[in-house]
Amino acid sequence: MTITNAAELKGLQAIGRIVADTLQAMARAMEPGMTTRELDGIGRQVLEAAGARSAPELSYGFPGATCISVGEEIAHGIPRDRVLAAGDLVNIDVSAEKGGFFADTGATFQLGQVSPDLERLCRDGRRAMQVGIAEVGHGRPLSGIGNAIGRFATRRGYTLIRNLASHGVGRALHEYPEEIATWPNRDRRRIHRGLVLTVEPFLSLGGRIAVAGRDGWTLQAKPRAAAVQYEHTVVATDGGAMVLTLPTRAD
Ligand code: CO
Ligand code: CO
Repeated sequence: MTITNAAELKGLQAIGRIVADTLQAMARAMEPGMTTRELDGIGRQVLEAAGARSAPELSYGFPGATCISVGEEIAHGIPRDRVLAAGDLVNIDVSAEKGGFFADTGATFQLGQVSPDLERLCRDGRRAMQVGIAEVGHGRPLSGIGNAIGRFATRRGYTLIRNLASHGVGRALHEYPEEIATWPNRDRRRIHRGLVLTVEPFLSLGGRIAVAGRDGWTLQAKPRAAAVQYEHTVVATDGGAMVLTLPTRAD
């Protein structure tokens, strides 16, 4: 959506804070021995207490309040009996609706000690998102996001998953502009003032595309490799991006 007044900005900031607080609460509660279904239950409680509804459930009939992807799973993981273990990479993606406004955020967390390679991947995954966010602003090309992330990834020896795009958000979970590349591209569209979008690159140690697993939802990288995702919902302003998905209390 494109924000045109203060009430719309307020509505988006409210749901942005709710999804960020939910993600933070889940990251803090996560521990070895817990199932992803239990972790999802914690997320659902936070959303419900805030008067918000899970967007994937509402929009797509997803079987869970949040997406939790562990290890070889890189996105859209279904909360289930899988037990979290020390050394896992755990991606949590939270999107929700309140008062007709939608926001979307996600991050990959290290559970306990992980290998130095994975630690570096996580650190650089967050940086890749920030590199993309820095390209958002009124009048700037949409292609700038993916081209900047592409330069960052190449320079540091990573691959990017090229079929999981960023997207417009606000009045629906996925809306115009759909399919915002977070990899090198020649998109001719431009960003305008008030446009609400996500920036969510998938940085990997060799994966190039995401393919669906047997359950029809969970995605894995092909070639098989670790991948991380970091996502914020932002609004374009004259001076750059304003991030909407910040938690009430910083970590
Ligand atoms: Co998301
Ligand atoms: Co998204």
